[in-house]
Amino acid sequence: MTPICSAKLTLFLISFFSLLLYHVSAASTARRQTSAISTIYQFPNQLENIAVRPNGNLLISYITAPELYEINPSANVGRPSIAHTFPNGHSVFGIQEISPDVFAVATGIIDQLTLQAEREYTVWRVDMTADGATTEIAKVPDAEFLNGLTVIPSSEAATTVLVADSFAGCVWAVDIATGAVTKSIDDESMKVRGGAIPISVNGVLARGGTLYYTNMGQRNFLSIPLNDDGTAAGNATVIASDIGGDDFEIDAVGTAYITTYTDNTLFRVSAAGELMTSILDFQLNGLTAAHFGRTADDERTLYVVTNEGRVVAVQVDLVDV
Ligand SMILES: *[C@@H]1O[C@H](CO)[C@@H](O)[C@H](O)[C@H]1NC(C)=O
Repeated sequence: MTPICSAKLTLFLISFFSLLLYHVSAASTARRQTSAISTIYQFPNQLENIAVRPNGNLLISYITAPELYEINPSANVGRPSIAHTFPNGHSVFGIQEISPDVFAVATGIIDQLTLQAEREYTVWRVDMTADGATTEIAKVPDAEFLNGLTVIPSSEAATTVLVADSFAGCVWAVDIATGAVTKSIDDESMKVRGGAIPISVNGVLARGGTLYYTNMGQRNFLSIPLNDDGTAAGNATVIASDIGGDDFEIDAVGTAYITTYTDNTLFRVSAAGELMTSILDFQLNGLTAAHFGRTADDERTLYVVTNEGRVVAVQVDLVDV
């Protein structure tokens, strides 16, 4: 064999094997993706938000029934139980822990088709240490569409609930002790002007004096510095764009996992926003919220809920992009 022939053969073999390798890795990617996501439960209808109890059980809010559900995600086919039933006609929206195993929950009576508020947007305190005993913290009479909910200064000892209003494009602050309600942030970055999707600020999450939020209509993921009373301490910053984000979770190193209702994927965005990847492409429809597990076994498992009623466990470190 002449050296030239041998070089050609080598080239041929390299491209042949890289083709083979390509197929092998595509196949193993598909396999890994499949094992990286599993369905915990299929509800008949639209799920909205999720929180996790200290014991690892999931608390799931529901748009089409006034119910808050609890599921043990480790009991593979665990049936959900009803943690609390709110007054008739209420849809259940944002939910977040305000002290150990006690949760703030936003509900309201809405037109299920237009999402227009009808009446009675309310923020409740649901005490899971007392079998879901529930008291009203406050009504938010001027709310137009309460959606995501977060708390400050921390989930261990919150004093104030911050709730996104997706039609008014603002954040309401609710004082947990007094029930006083104020419009605390009314920033241009939380509005939506025209566009196909009239839903503006949607998911909110306060971490270390900063409020992170999605603006679904403007397709931005942003942050704004917070004062202790939940008002803005500076200007908004766009962390990442072209994400029609709903609710989201942020891990210990600041990586955000953002669900998208219309993009049918989960976006992973690094703390500074310089790395943005779409994971779970087209494997789930209508993702609405996500929360990491809280036990040693599932602290890197992201539980995702969808508007098709699915509760899915995603092993985020096993998902390829
Ligand atoms: C906020 O933005 C305004 C207008 O662009 C600017 O004048 C102001 O200095 C900014 N404030 C901060 C804290 O960066």
